[in-house]
Amino acid sequence: MSTTLAPTATKRAMHHVPFWNFIGPMLKLRRGDFSGVQEIASREGDIFYTSLAVQRVIFLNSPELVEALLVKNHKDFHKDPGFEALRYLLGNGLLTSEEEFHLKQRRLIQPAFHKKRIDGYAESMVHYAREMGGQWQDGATMDIHAEMMAVTLSIIAKTLFNADVASETKKVADALETVIHYHERYFSQAAGRFFEMLPLESSRRMKESMGILDGIVYRFIQEHRSTQKDSGDLLDMLLQGRYEDDGSGMSDKQLRDECITLFLAGHETTAIAMSWTWYLLAHHPEIEARLHEEADRVLQGRDATAADVEQLDYTRRVFMESMRLYPPAFGFGRQAIRDTQLGPYEIRKGDVLVVSSIIMQQLERYYPQATTFDPDRWLPERSEGLHKFAYFPFGGGVRKCIGESFAWMEGILLLATFAQQWKMRMSPDARIASEPRITLRPKYGVKMILEKR
Ligand code: HEM
Repeated sequence: MSTTLAPTATKRAMHHVPFWNFIGPMLKLRRGDFSGVQEIASREGDIFYTSLAVQRVIFLNSPELVEALLVKNHKDFHKDPGFEALRYLLGNGLLTSEEEFHLKQRRLIQPAFHKKRIDGYAESMVHYAREMGGQWQDGATMDIHAEMMAVTLSIIAKTLFNADVASETKKVADALETVIHYHERYFSQAAGRFFEMLPLESSRRMKESMGILDGIVYRFIQEHRSTQKDSGDLLDMLLQGRYEDDGSGMSDKQLRDECITLFLAGHETTAIAMSWTWYLLAHHPEIEARLHEEADRVLQGRDATAADVEQLDYTRRVFMESMRLYPPAFGFGRQAIRDTQLGPYEIRKGDVLVVSSIIMQQLERYYPQATTFDPDRWLPERSEGLHKFAYFPFGGGVRKCIGESFAWMEGILLLATFAQQWKMRMSPDARIASEPRITLRPKYGVKMILEKR
């Protein structure tokens, strides 16, 4: 069910929550504890705001309002100022560009994510999972999050650049890690230039990492341009794309921005989703047993293929439920570029609006026994009638994740492939906490003991 919210003539005021009421909950949140913000959200209802000097920050907490923001009224908003810092790294790629230019890029890049193309990546996904599973030792203790990062990294490098040089992939990943670590300082062009000039070790590392990223990505672009044969990777698709207006293709700089965006957006989020799924499964042996049973029954000991994904129905529900409780991109924002209205609420130019999937997806009014990990709540008869925007781990509207089908395919195939051979138990000394920054990383990794099935 999806009821949309039209602007109404009757205006309604939203409740103001003093800024200091957020200090405690925000400090808790920095430590990975969402209970404070969850409490404010359940108390304050669908919409409320706080002010930082003249800046209003509005929290939307109903599916109708989220839909109004992301779909109906999306033209009245840009990404929130937090994305400015990502621009230093990503330039003007899909995640950070706006308006006409974003639409033009989205149109050009979309064909690279068509089902047929994604199906072609299934083999690489299963290959890297098999290879990793084949190296694991029975009884070994491992940080499963580090393993999931490594496998999704190999997959994105292969599917994006047709690269399997592990050392080079690792170099890109390390450089990205450094840039993400310091990126918040580069919240504006001026701040970026200022930090670049300072003789700090961090500024030196930032510059070095940006140089490494640019060097490798431009080299891949040159190599792909010069060979001119379609090896089936995403970069080939981007090179073949032509703008509708003048039939030209993307410049090298634009290709660089899009490639770095896809590389960054395309592996950590899926790795995080996988890691939290293994963690949940280790705490729910009855659900794990059903996942194993499905992998054995559907695959009969052979490698999974794209055609199996539809049959791996329980695995899909497990992945879906895991992203309900631990959505990797747990919250994001927009800024109003003009005065507008969401339903009966007036929004002023400059207001920042925040939506959070982790909060919405754990509201009792949409999810009875919301904190229980229950994949069967996604059976059609139990999820019928749920508003489309009561569940939005991939966002929505024109800015919806372009890699969603890629992520579903990868998540399901990786779960089934590892589950064919392995069980994972929590290590008794595992420390588990989330680190909510841009994504919901497990702060100390996920330390687990491997058990051969
Ligand atoms: C479980 C995995 C993933 C999750 C949870 C996820 C989540 C999201 C979310 C919430 C957004 C919207 C952000 C906003 O509206 O501000 C987004 C956008 C995006 N994602 Fe993903 N993502 C995942 C996997 C991927 C993959 C595998 C790729 C690429 C291979 C990818 C590429 C992108 C790009 C390029 C955008 C920007 C799209 C646009 O604005 O046109 N993501 N993602």
